Amino acid sequence: MQKVSLEVILQIVFGLSEGERYQLILPLLTSWLDMTDSPLRSSMLFFPFLQKDWGKWTPWGQMRSRQNSIYQLLQAEIEEKRTKNNQNQGDVLSLMMAARDENGQAMTDDELKDELLTILFAGHETTATTLAWAFYEIHRNPDVLSKLQQELDSLGENPNPMEIAQLPYLSAVCQETLRMYPVLPGLFPRITKSSINIAGYQFPPDTTLMPSIYLLHYREDLYPNPQQFNPERFLGRQYSPWEFIPFGGGSRRCLGYALAQLEIKLVLATVLSNYQLTLVENKPIKLQRRGFTLAPNGGVRMMTIKKRSLSQVYPSSVSI
Ligand code: HEM
Repeated sequence: MQKVSLEVILQIVFGLSEGERYQLILPLLTSWLDMTDSPLRSSMLFFPFLQKDWGKWTPWGQMRSRQNSIYQLLQAEIEEKRTKNNQNQGDVLSLMMAARDENGQAMTDDELKDELLTILFAGHETTATTLAWAFYEIHRNPDVLSKLQQELDSLGENPNPMEIAQLPYLSAVCQETLRMYPVLPGLFPRITKSSINIAGYQFPPDTTLMPSIYLLHYREDLYPNPQQFNPERFLGRQYSPWEFIPFGGGSRRCLGYALAQLEIKLVLATVLSNYQLTLVENKPIKLQRRGFTLAPNGGVRMMTIKKRSLSQVYPSSVSI
């Protein structure tokens, strides 16, 4: 899933899907992100006293060295686009290079690189992790899998991606996964500007609040049997932006929320329409901190049982 989401984000951000720089950046980004794949290593991100660069044999030194290599590749990409007169190919980098602020100023190269790295970082691991949880729950619940496959099959061969994105049961599966496994357990901190009363609690100015997505998504009054994976709850009712917040809320809501949901639906639809999969192990998978995200401990290991095709599912429709 990481490979898929990395390829998608690289194509969207740079318009890159091949070439030498693409081949270089793929493993670099993967190893850079993997540096925070355990609770211990993740601590580097949270405790400034661990952020000491004592050369490339220390974790933070390694992190910085990989980050520098990524910055060099990003810089090369920016310069190449500039020499080619930045023919706008619709990718995010071209759009950011063409953007001007109210004084007619373009973004500096450092600003461009920081924005690019943020999008690569925020848009890669999060989507991959949600997809892994979705495959896990779908295959732990055979009725969910069969309903999903029926819905997908109803679109026929080679469906239009936008039709897939609007499928109600697929959308409900996607939402239920995001409810049960919010990859970011909490929102970014908010600081009160003035005194405010929230649900009977009075907060003075300058209070740091960290809303918990996880606690909200497990509230029994909103989500009966919250520990149960039950996509139907999203078919029966529309949750408000105060009840369902996997992508945060307000003006700092996730920039990639629409892209992420589209990507998750298209990947699930493509894989589930074409393959019959099974979980390798039957035991429940626990949550583990991975960088800023909550991920399946040890990953979700699956294997292919066989290829699927519509003509096998509905043999009588072969002649149509
Ligand atoms: C399933 C996938 C994803 C989840 C669950 C997710 C979740 C979140 C959450 C909870 C926040 C904090 C919002 C807040 O504090 O109100 C956030 C912020 C952000 N996300 Fe995502 N995200 C996902 C995918 C993406 C993708 C694909 C991109 C980029 C293409 C992206 C880019 C960002 C950025 C740039 C921010 C910071 C926004 C700001 O501070 O103004 N995310 N995301």
